[in-house]
Amino acid sequence: MIQPMTFKEMILQGIPEQLPNKKSRDDKYSHAPKRKDILTPTEKKLAIANALRYFPASWHAVLIEEFVEELKLYGRIYMYRFMPDYEMYARPIHEYPAKSKQAAAIMLMIQNNLDPAVAQHPQELITYGGNGAVFQNWAQYLITMKYLAQITDTQTLHMYSGHPMGIFPSSVEAPRVVVTNGMMIPNYSKPEDWERYNAMGVTQYGQMTAGSYMYIGPQGIVHGTTITVMNAFRKKLGAGVSPNGRIFLTAGLGGMSGAQPKAGNIAGCITVCAEVNASAAIKRFEQGWVDKLTHNLDELIDIVKEAVSNKEVVSIAYVGNVIDVWERFDTENIIVDLGSDQTSLHNPWAGGYYPVGLSFEASNDMMANHPEQFKEVVQASLRRHADAINKHTSKGTYFFDYGNAFLLEASRANADVMHDNHIDFKYPSYVQDILGPMCFDYGFGPFRWVCTSGSHEDLKRTDQIAATVLESMLANAPASIAQQLQDNITWIKEAEKNKLVVGSKARILYADAEGRSKIAAAFNEAIGDGTITAPVVIGRDHHDVSGTDSPYRETSNIYDGSKYTADMSIHNVIGDSFRGATWVSIHNGGGVGWGEVSNGGFGLVLDGTDASKTKLENMLFYDVNNGIARRAWARNTGSLEAIEREMKRSPNLTVTMPNLVDEKLLQQIQ
Ligand SMILES: NC(=O)c1ccc[n+]([C@@H]2O[C@H](COP(=O)([O-])OP(=O)(O)OC[C@H]3O[C@@H](n4cnc5c(N)ncnc54)[C@H](O)[C@@H]3O)[C@@H](O)[C@H]2O)c1
Repeated sequence: MIQPMTFKEMILQGIPEQLPNKKSRDDKYSHAPKRKDILTPTEKKLAIANALRYFPASWHAVLIEEFVEELKLYGRIYMYRFMPDYEMYARPIHEYPAKSKQAAAIMLMIQNNLDPAVAQHPQELITYGGNGAVFQNWAQYLITMKYLAQITDTQTLHMYSGHPMGIFPSSVEAPRVVVTNGMMIPNYSKPEDWERYNAMGVTQYGQMTAGSYMYIGPQGIVHGTTITVMNAFRKKLGAGVSPNGRIFLTAGLGGMSGAQPKAGNIAGCITVCAEVNASAAIKRFEQGWVDKLTHNLDELIDIVKEAVSNKEVVSIAYVGNVIDVWERFDTENIIVDLGSDQTSLHNPWAGGYYPVGLSFEASNDMMANHPEQFKEVVQASLRRHADAINKHTSKGTYFFDYGNAFLLEASRANADVMHDNHIDFKYPSYVQDILGPMCFDYGFGPFRWVCTSGSHEDLKRTDQIAATVLESMLANAPASIAQQLQDNITWIKEAEKNKLVVGSKARILYADAEGRSKIAAAFNEAIGDGTITAPVVIGRDHHDVSGTDSPYRETSNIYDGSKYTADMSIHNVIGDSFRGATWVSIHNGGGVGWGEVSNGGFGLVLDGTDASKTKLENMLFYDVNNGIARRAWARNTGSLEAIEREMKRSPNLTVTMPNLVDEKLLQQIQ
């Protein structure tokens, strides 16, 4: 009798020797929407030839039919036949076949990004954001995992948008993997280009952390949204004033936006979140991420009025269009303290944004069958959306753009969102007002880690270590960063109670360069003495101080004109790569859309050795201070203070500092 292959054997074989049986996709999973039929007949042939080059010629006659069909049905060739038979999840590190511990840790991270409990469309290899892919197809996955099993600590695997180009000789100091996603010649970086070249199988949209294997489930966005909402309330109400009974009105209960009610509860306000897709709203309600659910606007008004009068902390999902809520709250004179929006406006024409007055189903039909008409309806809706928000802001609502391109798309639709100077938007992005000046300019950003043992005890131990480090820093911290340290101490102490782990044993908090380095060094020491039982991967979201150039989001609070440049993110990935990162990545797109952002990140495997200690100190220092230096050169006040402090702390650092011009002198220019 033939023994079934073990997990390790299946990884090691890569593309199977025998053609596996045909598989179809499983209805129990959410699937990527059918993509636009954009290729010409000649380009379709190219897409098929591109897909077939992963397989022996003897299989082509069989596979050609299947791939033609996939391209026709789904607009992409996912190669469902090659989905592995084993379960997809982050295993403890010792279960991976590998010659390099670093490579095994990367395999763990890849599997986590494709785990059906974590990934949005797991069988299309999409982790989040509708199109944030880890790979373009299953052949790329199989070959990459095999390569990672083979690679030694003196080789580097180069990944081109999901495609494993090859393993090249390098050195112990070099990264084990270098990842690029969606890097295009700038003139070919429009959304249409993503549709075309992704359908051809030559590029992919890696989002921020999907294509760099650093996604850790919803915990990251809950933390970021909590920090944003807490600080937005401080801005609106003043420090120390409780947000209990105050309203935060927003939209979206999807992949990322679904974090809003949970974050609102942790911040302590009333969150009203409209969601047009009933199944998305019901899913979040059933998962306990939102406390109440109603399909009825009258009922919503009653619930909200009662919550306000009782000064409650509660989150409410309304199944319907957010514009109806903004308009009705206005006529009911319900005061909204904070307003935002997290519909997917980075993708307005293909299901990211549902226009008011049209049902969910009618919208889906129109976008597929009458795309030009749909575009007009969306733009009219955006104009109405902005008008409704404007009524509230004139009564005192603090409205901020939450990084979904709401203001950008509204301005393109000629909605009333422009400042009188016709250059800026009327409203700030959350980075301009909140995360930029309060966090990024001081180096505070989304530091994260994963315990590769898969052990809950290890995760608890890392939580304790991180809390101790931050508490010791708070004792001597300057006033400008004390609040951020305190918020993150509270967060990490409650992290276990909030039960946010989905998938790998991961944690996130915001820390500055000093904090990240001290926490990582303490982990490394604990791995060395056995208190933590296996290596820990450290990394971060790309949505950070230095990793991302994005003029409407991460770098929207850069005012020297350089926010449309992408030098910082490129320096970041190159700088991290030779300072010790285990893997580095750089992506076009992510968050706000293809062509709108350049973002990069890293992963670093801590194994308790002195070599790890040197790498973490060298790399984390640059990873954060690169962005602070750039923000200081742009004359950002917090960064000027932070980099001066860093230069005092680190004699090896010299940053070019700006000379500030007297405003009165400038005003003399005719
Ligand atoms: N600020 C950040 O840190 C941050 C982080 C992640 C994502 N984002 C951005 O936020 C957006 C949302 O991300 P996501 O992963 O939740 O996307 P998603 O597509 O999963 O969810 C968006 C939801 O909005 C709903 N929706 C659309 N139009 C609506 C309307 N008019 N009224 C009510 N509901 C409506 C959709 O049905 C969908 O469920 C994206 O543009 C993303 O890039 C920002």
